[in-house]
Amino acid sequence: MVRKNRLPKFPDDYIDDKAEEYDSSSWMERNQKRATLLSIQYLYDEKLSGKADKGVNIGDSYLILDLGCGTGFSSEIMIENGFRVIGIDILSDMLLKARDKKKKFENYKSLELILADINFLPIKGASIDHIISISSYNFITYGKDNYGERIKLLNDTAKYLNKILKKKGRIIIEFYPKNDKELKVFKRSFIMNGFEGYMVKNKPSQKSGQTYLLLKKIS
Ligand SMILES: C[S@@+](CC[C@H](N)C(=O)[O-])C[C@H]1O[C@@H](n2cnc3c(N)ncnc32)[C@H](O)[C@@H]1O
Repeated sequence: MVRKNRLPKFPDDYIDDKAEEYDSSSWMERNQKRATLLSIQYLYDEKLSGKADKGVNIGDSYLILDLGCGTGFSSEIMIENGFRVIGIDILSDMLLKARDKKKKFENYKSLELILADINFLPIKGASIDHIISISSYNFITYGKDNYGERIKLLNDTAKYLNKILKKKGRIIIEFYPKNDKELKVFKRSFIMNGFEGYMVKNKPSQKSGQTYLLLKKIS
């Protein structure tokens, strides 16, 4: 059971009957949807806009990549807010639940789903307007026990996300770094690879836990 007071384990908490448990948890659904709504607000953040950048237009039907879309709670909210959405997930047990909803529910019909690793995305260069990732990005270093390997993977992925984004594309990541060091390492991977931005936490003194990274492609 994915408990409310502990961080989930990847991949154990998302496979077999755990995928079903995840998808039928109303607590989980509420949390994913709440974090997605806040991330959509952050997408329009005016602090990310510069003098020559008018920012993100409200009402435009941007193409959004939902990284680690799981069973589709976050994608659903993005679609309801008028975006075109491609959901990516590495686990078929999770993605199949999203696919079932696509067959059943009208609001899921336009959702494109791809079984893929965030670190190796089958996406064309300069084709995506913006990226949103909810409660998934902290898992991308799974299996990389060595610090150097983790840094290389984070840099390679940030570089590739830069490549697939259109000019001035934005990335909003809601994730759960273990500590301050991990948070800095994740943020740095973007700053070193053509992005600028900042992070938002629930409490300014907080060293770990729910964090939002707000990023914009600058080069
Ligand atoms: C908390 S869950 C899904 C959250 C999703 N936002 C939702 O609304 O259901 C995290 C997801 O991240 C996915 N994930 C973890 N590592 C991944 C990777 N390297 N590439 C793609 N998906 C990944 C997991 O398979 C899992 O479905």
